[in-house]
Amino acid sequence: MNPSSRGPERLKGVTAIILAAGVGSRMQSQVPKVLHQLLGRPMAGWVVAAANDAFAETSVVVLSPATAALEGLLDGSVLIAEQPKPLGTADAVRCALAALPPSVNELLIACGDTPLITAGLMRNLVAARRESGAPFALAAFEAEDPTGYGRVIQSGDGSAVSVVEERDASETQRAIGTVNAGLYAVDRAWLTQALGAIKPSKASGELYLTDLVAAAHAEGTPAPIVYGPAIELEGVNDRHQFADAAAALRERINAGHLDRGVALIDPTTAWIDGQVNIAADAVIEPNVTLIGTTTIGARTRIGSGSRIESSTIAEDCVVRSSAIEGSSISHSVDIGPFAHVRPGCLIEANCHIGNFAELKATNLASGAKVGHHSYLGDAVVGERANIGAGTITANYDGERKQKTHIGADAFTGVGTLIVAPAGIGIGAKTGAGTVVLADIPDGCTAVGVPARIIREA
Ligand code: UD1
Ligand code: MG
Repeated sequence: MNPSSRGPERLKGVTAIILAAGVGSRMQSQVPKVLHQLLGRPMAGWVVAAANDAFAETSVVVLSPATAALEGLLDGSVLIAEQPKPLGTADAVRCALAALPPSVNELLIACGDTPLITAGLMRNLVAARRESGAPFALAAFEAEDPTGYGRVIQSGDGSAVSVVEERDASETQRAIGTVNAGLYAVDRAWLTQALGAIKPSKASGELYLTDLVAAAHAEGTPAPIVYGPAIELEGVNDRHQFADAAAALRERINAGHLDRGVALIDPTTAWIDGQVNIAADAVIEPNVTLIGTTTIGARTRIGSGSRIESSTIAEDCVVRSSAIEGSSISHSVDIGPFAHVRPGCLIEANCHIGNFAELKATNLASGAKVGHHSYLGDAVVGERANIGAGTITANYDGERKQKTHIGADAFTGVGTLIVAPAGIGIGAKTGAGTVVLADIPDGCTAVGVPARIIREA
């Protein structure tokens, strides 16, 4: 399953606000927390994707000048609100309200640092608030270690009295394991007036959105609590939590592939981005990384140590311990071990790319073989051509890159050097160590430095 695939049951009339303007200093990083990449998406992008699955309306993402780059990294369409200064979660929501169309009445607020959150939980929370008739509802979970979270104080009937942030909590309150998930459903009109009454925290000076819980209680309409699984709701505030979230997300993605018949030999070491498509009966060996918009065909085997980025590999291929980027591989191709297929390659069916071969922006027509230790850059290789060990296309003269054409059924000897734009004709051959400075015509055999024709067609 692509975890972000849209379900048919998207709820109408609810707009999600995703808070992503905070810096996230506990990550100890130059990069703002919500921008950190997690299996192919920035952390906040997972929350946006869940909201897009949950609701029909366009979500609003709150960004600060520091996190503005997030907008360009999101895959769906969103509205952007700006929070000029990180004055706290309540201030962030206030900024979002300013960006909302007047027609919006019902809101879901989520934090951009809870990447495991699901559309189902978002919808459950909205449903619980609607059912209760309360203006505000929150999601909570039982934390094994509640450190860092707001603790949920409850009344006898289980509704919420208040949320106390860690730094404001007494020792007794800190012992409470029920924590605020940072996910809320709220009525817009109530929110607008309630935000106006929030005062800065004495401990941090920030405006806490969590003060709304006490406000709802004081008005006699206490917030109902929806409990969710900790694994979905744990926030990411430091590198430890980030690694835990990545592992949980990997597990969720890989479970989807297993359900659909992909042979993942070791789901704990295969890292597969959320956007990757894999056909049933493909085999993914341990320690494989599949990145970006990669597609893997049926019965194709991706061997240990391979890293495939934004590439299409059709059915019945074998890739052993190799790196493939931005390329398209047709069916029944055999690659590696230790080959590097760089961006812009088009490899037709039944080709072989062997040990330590490097290809860049190169087309191999069907049945071509590049066995060992070769470099082909900006080359066009004809059907069934056999590229001998150590064949190099010198495609760059220091100023410009030029193409090399190698004809169908050509055969290059070991260590052939082809200086572009010189090429090799159909069925032509070169001896070992040949340096090709001018075109070798079809059917001819050439040897030496520089190449001389020893056999005409
Ligand atoms: C917040 C909650 C806490 C809850 C926890 C759940 C508050 C005051 N506390 O704490 O009760 O247990 O989430 O994970 O809300 N953000 C902004 N602008 C700001 C500040 C934050 O957009 O000025 C965004 C951040 O980018 C982040 C989210 O809001 O995505 C939460 O902020 P964070 O600083 O992580 O709050 P927590 O301390 O985790
Ligand atoms: Mg947080």
